[in-house]
Amino acid sequence: MIHAPVLLQEVIDVLQPRSGDTVIDGTAGAGGHAEALRARIGSGAMLLVDWDEETVQALEKEVRSFPQVRVAHGNYADIPELQRTLPFPKADVALLDLGFSSDQLLRGKGFSFQKREEPLVMTYSAARGSLRDALRSLSEGELAEIITAFGEERYAKKIAKAIVARRNALQTVGDLSDAIVGAVPKSYEHGRIHPATRTFQALRIYINDELGNLAQFLRTLPEIMKPGGRVAIISFHSLEDRIVKTAFHDMEHAGIGKRITRKPISASFEEVARNPRARSAKLRAFTFLPS
Ligand SMILES: C[S@@+](CC[C@H](N)C(=O)[O-])C[C@H]1O[C@@H](n2cnc3c(N)ncnc32)[C@H](O)[C@@H]1O
Repeated sequence: MIHAPVLLQEVIDVLQPRSGDTVIDGTAGAGGHAEALRARIGSGAMLLVDWDEETVQALEKEVRSFPQVRVAHGNYADIPELQRTLPFPKADVALLDLGFSSDQLLRGKGFSFQKREEPLVMTYSAARGSLRDALRSLSEGELAEIITAFGEERYAKKIAKAIVARRNALQTVGDLSDAIVGAVPKSYEHGRIHPATRTFQALRIYINDELGNLAQFLRTLPEIMKPGGRVAIISFHSLEDRIVKTAFHDMEHAGIGKRITRKPISASFEEVARNPRARSAKLRAFTFLPS
């Protein structure tokens, strides 16, 4: 596994895993955070969830020698259902580390506009279909709305028009990227970011319903967690962070717990130098009231 866990020490500091704790990692990925948590809970039970079938297979192999660790394929938005069906107890500690892992970039899923030859998939789970098919059925107006709302892209209308004009010919990441580049001014953002950055983010959020999943997870938290339980969420862009910030604020005002972080925790210069993915990471944490 090449994925380096982001804000690892900071996650441990806010979650305070203790011997015997029950832990749920809703985005287990390459298992970096999970391994650090497992090492601190001793024989406590642990549930690793991921939506990507191949990731789940790899995790199953890695945890074979740890009978207290269970692995489940699924959406973290459905954790209450997983808890009922497995069954798995309520958690003392829960973690989400959002987005995709570096390992997934090697698996031809089309997450990055730099992988020009890859097919237009962009979904974590194969069961969710592909971006290529979705692009064929969305109207130009719907596409423009998605690119505006989830990418905050000022040229959304022009990009949507260009995509719809050639959507039947779009097969690869390179085809989509070229359509976007052709629709925006040559001086796009003065060269600060690649013109496809915001549109790719928007389409990935849309096709996986990432913000809907996050909002649903946050709604189910009181059901998932034990009294006194701690939850941490690492987000990678402002739309996600805003949803987490608002939910933690609202739960505190409802009197069911307290924010552990008033301001989000960011990665140190040293970590960003080692792992550029950490640059935009924001960690927020919340604790439920003890019984
Ligand atoms: C950033 S990686 C997690 C890395 C992990 N913390 C580690 O240390 O290796 C995010 C993972 O979340 C998974 N994922 C994304 N959306 C999901 C969802 N709705 N439900 C479950 N897993 C999801 C992805 O497949 C990916 O493996």
